[in-house]
Amino acid sequence: MNKRDVIVIGAGAAGLFCAAQAAARGRNVEVLDHAKKVGRKILMSGGGRCNFTNMYASAENFLSENPHFCKSALNQYTQWDFIALVNDYGIAYHEKTLGQLFCDDSASQIVDLLMSECRKANARVTTRCEILQVEKNDQGFYLNTSLGEYQCESLVVATGGLSMPKLGATPFGYKVAQQFGIPVLPTRAGLVPFTLPPEIKAPLAEISGISQTVRAQCNNTAFVEDMLITHRGLSGPAILQISSFWEGQAVDIDLSPQTDLHQALVQAREQQPNLSLKNYLATCFAKRLAETLVNILALPNVPLKQLNEKQLTAIADQLHQWQIKPAGTEGYRTAEVTLGGVDTNALSSKTMEARNTPGLYFIGEVVDVTGWLGGYNFQWAWSSGWVAGQHV
Ligand code: FDA
Repeated sequence: MNKRDVIVIGAGAAGLFCAAQAAARGRNVEVLDHAKKVGRKILMSGGGRCNFTNMYASAENFLSENPHFCKSALNQYTQWDFIALVNDYGIAYHEKTLGQLFCDDSASQIVDLLMSECRKANARVTTRCEILQVEKNDQGFYLNTSLGEYQCESLVVATGGLSMPKLGATPFGYKVAQQFGIPVLPTRAGLVPFTLPPEIKAPLAEISGISQTVRAQCNNTAFVEDMLITHRGLSGPAILQISSFWEGQAVDIDLSPQTDLHQALVQAREQQPNLSLKNYLATCFAKRLAETLVNILALPNVPLKQLNEKQLTAIADQLHQWQIKPAGTEGYRTAEVTLGGVDTNALSSKTMEARNTPGLYFIGEVVDVTGWLGGYNFQWAWSSGWVAGQHV
């Protein structure tokens, strides 16, 4: 029987960070993961450069049934604390946009940082370990695993969400929660591309690769960022962001959020009356996007001088309020995160400990706290992991 003070299940962002904190307090800690490699999502993240936090992270950047829950952890361990740690390791980074901090070189530097923190504090990290059984007993928790039996005082579940099963995602954390009578809120894919009905997918697929800054809106939430047209549907930051708020309805896409197209069209009609609408739109959008928009929105492709005020208003409205009803999303296969999860009402926001099961903790993405795109999800992993690390 292997005896530990703390067992952390899941060697991802939250689990490794929590283990290092707990071990630094002198606790005897071991992290167990079923995968061959630790931190696989970190390695894939941010296009291989890991968007490890966001300078402007605050509770407003997170979705949760209880929007207040994340505040305590985010305040106890802030983005500035993690940035200081990244600085200690001499990892070079830059702000890409909107406060998003990325490594200059490689996401592997963040995994190295976490593993180095674990080594320094003597936290063990064990991979290729299947957890077969978890039970509560008088001394804490008993675990039966493919590498033998374990007994620990505190058990931390850091197994993440369901997105990207190829990277080792499993519903393990939700099952442990349910085993201990802790509610799990329905899960769905977030930060995920939209798929489209055939009649719109086909013409857009022909111009896949084109990107346009848009304002994507649904459910009273909007993001002004780039939208990318793909051969499967719509992606890019604006779409990934709004996908987390999408519940099946139409999404409003303003294709020209920074320019009043009605005013611009009126001016263009005065200055270049013989220019066709398509050629005018090719000065606002990529040429092939302009052509496709004229076709799918059935815009009148005539010289601007032939368009009356009512028509110009209608054209501008169509481009500012393009309504698209996605067929669905690409699902967990390509989603960056999982919405929903372990109900925060069942956890202490100060420690992440389960209210009904002393010694049992849930951290990271397995919890019903989901960040926007932009480094927020890793910040939640660091903050929730740090908090639990002080109490296990
Ligand atoms: P994580 O998923 O990191 O770790 C869970 C661990 O548990 C894994 O090691 C897994 O193998 C293990 N595990 C699962 N089931 C198990 C079981 N049954 N037994 C044992 N072990 C088990 N966020 C961000 O802020 N900035 C970014 O740049 C990106 N980029 C990004 C790109 C891609 C492609 C994806 C898929 C996701 C992102 N994210 C992101 C989101 C971010 O990666 C995610 O929110 C965090 O990794 C969550 O950290 P956790 O530690 O909670 O789970």
